[in-house]
Amino acid sequence: MDIQVQSNEQLFEALITGLLTQGYAVADGFLSPPEALAILDASTRSFEHGGFSIAGIGKSQHYQLNRNIRGDHIKWLDHHNPPEACLPFFTRLQEMIHYFNRNLYLGIRDMELHFAVYPEGAFYKRHLDVFRHTKARKVSIICYLNANWLAEDGGQLRLYLPGEDGTERHEDILPMAGRLVCFNSQSIEHEVLPARRRRYSITGWLKDEQSLFDPPLPGGY
Ligand code: OGA
Ligand code: MN
Repeated sequence: MDIQVQSNEQLFEALITGLLTQGYAVADGFLSPPEALAILDASTRSFEHGGFSIAGIGKSQHYQLNRNIRGDHIKWLDHHNPPEACLPFFTRLQEMIHYFNRNLYLGIRDMELHFAVYPEGAFYKRHLDVFRHTKARKVSIICYLNANWLAEDGGQLRLYLPGEDGTERHEDILPMAGRLVCFNSQSIEHEVLPARRRRYSITGWLKDEQSLFDPPLPGGY
């Protein structure tokens, strides 16, 4: 179910409906094409100047690098001091969080966000976004930045969802510029299929607790 929207209010309302009824929502136009392009440029420049770290799995003492599980590179963003190009994104996200807190009673108090780059061939195997010892992540959000992404470019986000009669089905979402995906961090398993082009996004989590260590490690997850 893709949402086409005009106003912020409609966008947020549609996201809430998706989260409540199916655990996830996809909205196109969260960023306009020029907004997505400006962030893509900033992310590309930082990536090409070595500003990213290889992403790992687990947190703190459980942290490890494992190329057989995930091959993306990330750069944590300071949401108190975001890069200039990301301001429209952060403003809209703040509005979204206020709307969610008023209407969905999630009690979002913090977030963590990073740029992600999947080089050609990179993937992220099936996983859940919460850690064993902390369940602070409530909603996962991903906003994609690549213009003209085609099915043959791969890199789909695959969500695993309940199907008929206890079966499982999946939904594949193309990482197209300006598109925002939100899903329940606690329940929705997902993966990123191998990308055949360099794939850019901003990925983050809305949390109901303030982080003590934010972020834990340069590539830490
Ligand atoms: C993640 C993740 C999905 C995507 O970073 O945890 O699942 O579509 N990303 O980039
Ligand atoms: Mn994930």
